[in-house]
Amino acid sequence: MTEERKKISLPTLARKRRKGEPISWLTCYDYPTAYLQEQAGIEMILVGDSLGMTMLGYDSTLPVTMEDMIRHTQAVRRGAPNVFLIGDMPYMSYQACNEDAVRNAGRFMAEAGCDAIKLEGGREMVDRVKAITAAGIPVSGHLGLTPQSVSALGGFRLQGKGADAAKRIVEDAKILEEAGAFCVLLELVPDRVCKIITERSDNALIMGLGSGPDAHGQLLIYHDMFGLYPKFTPKMAKVFGNAGEVILNGLKSYNKEVKDKTFPSDENTFGMKDEDFDKLFKMLS
Ligand code: KIV
Repeated sequence: MTEERKKISLPTLARKRRKGEPISWLTCYDYPTAYLQEQAGIEMILVGDSLGMTMLGYDSTLPVTMEDMIRHTQAVRRGAPNVFLIGDMPYMSYQACNEDAVRNAGRFMAEAGCDAIKLEGGREMVDRVKAITAAGIPVSGHLGLTPQSVSALGGFRLQGKGADAAKRIVEDAKILEEAGAFCVLLELVPDRVCKIITERSDNALIMGLGSGPDAHGQLLIYHDMFGLYPKFTPKMAKVFGNAGEVILNGLKSYNKEVKDKTFPSDENTFGMKDEDFDKLFKMLS
């Protein structure tokens, strides 16, 4: 049964942060999954540009366009009207200049009904964060493993392992917060680095993905948590249920039943009254 809940807003999230109530955040890219996530009480949804890999089958997130993002985000909003919805700015929708960044962030808000946007990068993104927040759009930062820079980072691997690299991430988190980011996502950084950043934040939500338990909340990639991404499952993801296996077994059964004609059975079939059938038969003969 559908359960209505109150709209999750920035003040709701701030209250949870103050009370020390952990916040759950998931990626989502489609209407039926958004519906289920809302029913499960998930507070935040990220329509990530990871959809390029999980939904569209690319090898990276780089080919994803604003049009892809808007289409999927609109579907998610229809399925989860009360969740706090964050649109992920795709590659080259904000890197070049403030004008592009504000215009594309505005599209997420106006066309897809987002509550906020997310962009990747640290101190080099301060101007973008300031420009977008000045336009009245809440911004989440994203530090550590930032998939749009995967080539420069040398692959999908832990970031901030050494003291110098960790110090830079700690500083970047504070810089983003001071620039106006309401949230900073830490992806794949050591747990102790995440703890320091969380303790040092004043108002920003610090959210973790593969960064240990000490953030204000956690993000997971939906496809990883249900065994739905065929290429790999990263160590940072826990598989909460193997939907991929359930679906595969269902598909095999369907394939078999079609071939041995056990599907459709009477249960899935519509009949016709004898008199109508006789009439039809006469009309055709
Ligand atoms: O696109 C995405 O889903 C993301 C997560 C990896 C954080 O940015």
